[in-house]
Amino acid sequence: MTEKKRILVTGALMPAVGERARACYNVTVLEGASESSAEAIPKAAQDHDGILCHVNVHLTGDIIRALPHSVKIIANHAVGVDNIDLDAAREKGIVVTNTPEVLSAATAEIAILLMLGAARRAGEAERLLRRGDWKSWSVDFMVGTEISGRRLGIVGMGDIGRRVAKAARGLDMEIHYHNRRRLPEDKEQGAVFHDTVEALLEVSDVLSINCPLTPATRYLLNRERIARLPPGAIVVNTARGPIVDDAALIDALRSGHVAAAGLDVFDGEPRINPGYLALENVFLLPHIGSATVRTRTAMGMRALDNLDAFFSAASPRDRVV
Ligand code: GLV
Repeated sequence: MTEKKRILVTGALMPAVGERARACYNVTVLEGASESSAEAIPKAAQDHDGILCHVNVHLTGDIIRALPHSVKIIANHAVGVDNIDLDAAREKGIVVTNTPEVLSAATAEIAILLMLGAARRAGEAERLLRRGDWKSWSVDFMVGTEISGRRLGIVGMGDIGRRVAKAARGLDMEIHYHNRRRLPEDKEQGAVFHDTVEALLEVSDVLSINCPLTPATRYLLNRERIARLPPGAIVVNTARGPIVDDAALIDALRSGHVAAAGLDVFDGEPRINPGYLALENVFLLPHIGSATVRTRTAMGMRALDNLDAFFSAASPRDRVV
């Protein structure tokens, strides 16, 4: 019998995933690996064949270059791979995989939750109630806006963006989108394509960010672009924090140009710009887009599928590098 491959896992796995991982591999779990402690990884990865990496662990170029040569694959437990320096992995001959599709439904649900929560002032209303400040009902109490019948602009019409569009159609929203490439008609489903972000922003009563974080999308929603949104627009981000210029969005939320925002991801998370915390018109969640038992289990299984394929000399299905 061949010896089990050794994999380093950068944190907890869902129970069924952990069971399968331990059955097939010699697993080392790096307890406490996080946003700030990835430097421990090269040492911990000595004599390991692969790394199963969580999204909050940033494998920078320096860390990847310091990895032992035994590490041949990084299976990311996420669809986004912005936490990994892909060029450094490529240079070192390390394969990188991700977990597409399996988290699309859960993430689209959170996007809809954020849209509704921001539009209907759910966070503010709940805070008021918990403080004991709900004194009486009145006709102008906690009035917000409804998203039904409004124009939804989606930046990034991949699997998640299309799921958001599908759910939003059920709310009677008119779908517009910008994507690197226009989708074929069967995937567009009547959504209106805009060939620039600017053109999309101009018609987005509600804007949903669903694109990956890449050098091209970093701070894509900057001050100039925010100014192009219709006054009173709602901004929702379930993709990655650094796609949004926080200072610019906070200013727009303060002025009311952006009426409300729903955010699940933040630049520099888990630390977030304190400007958001002082605002009532933001609905904030701590990066829980894919956080359901079914989805997190499916993500872990997909990462293991990729490791299994790699170690059996097949090409992993979700190879990114
Ligand atoms: C989660 O944030 C992911 O990218 O999978």
